[in-house]
Amino acid sequence: MADSIKAKGSNVNGDGAIKIAAIGDLHAQEDAQTSYRDLFGEVSREADVLVLAGDLTNLGKPKEAERLAEDLRACSIPVVGVLGNHDYESGSVEQVTATLRQAGVHLLDGQATELMDVGFVGVKGFVGGFGARMLSSFGEPAIKAMVAESVSEAMRLENAMRQVRAKRTLVVLHYAPILETVLGEPPEIFPFLGSSRLGETIDRFKVSAVVHGHAHRGTYEGCTPGGAKVYNVAMHVAKPTGRPYALLEV
Ligand SMILES: [Fe+2]
Ligand SMILES: [Fe+2]
Repeated sequence: MADSIKAKGSNVNGDGAIKIAAIGDLHAQEDAQTSYRDLFGEVSREADVLVLAGDLTNLGKPKEAERLAEDLRACSIPVVGVLGNHDYESGSVEQVTATLRQAGVHLLDGQATELMDVGFVGVKGFVGGFGARMLSSFGEPAIKAMVAESVSEAMRLENAMRQVRAKRTLVVLHYAPILETVLGEPPEIFPFLGSSRLGETIDRFKVSAVVHGHAHRGTYEGCTPGGAKVYNVAMHVAKPTGRPYALLEV
């Protein structure tokens, strides 16, 4: 598995690996000047599957989801995705989800789906911090509720991992599972960018790669303590492709 750009056309390689274009944090806006149509057309020529790593909309507004769904018509390859925190902002997450599913997006929220012999496992994840400095379940009920949500997301990831029958697995998150790929962000906000609980769960399984977004100013590449490759594919993060999306062979 490595980053690479191959010739257009025969995307599926002899070893059965497929090419995945992955991008996070599109933050689609209802009145935006920018359209993602050209980008979706481009990835359709470069890859076999498009993965969207959350924050699909800017404020979680139904109109933003409709706008993105319209642009996704230019995408001719399967699309797999998870929601991000921004997609929850307006309290319309059911409508946003329905619109994107109607547009054909395999929107995962604690589930797995198999495409081209690759298992895609998706969960949004949550905050909580990393390593020994992770927030622990102590003190006020509000803190305990926060930690419980973080643990719950890790457990939902674990349940989804157990559904996978394919030999190759790509984990799709919005929040970061390791510290390494949030480096570049202000240290004060590290605990709000992800949780090591996700990384610990991933390390109980054999995965081909992990992608996430959310840390717009983070670092592209890292790995879990167990050695799973992790890519921060937020569109703002510089990537080997020189494009807003990463290309991974899985
Ligand atoms: Fe974002
Ligand atoms: Fe986010």
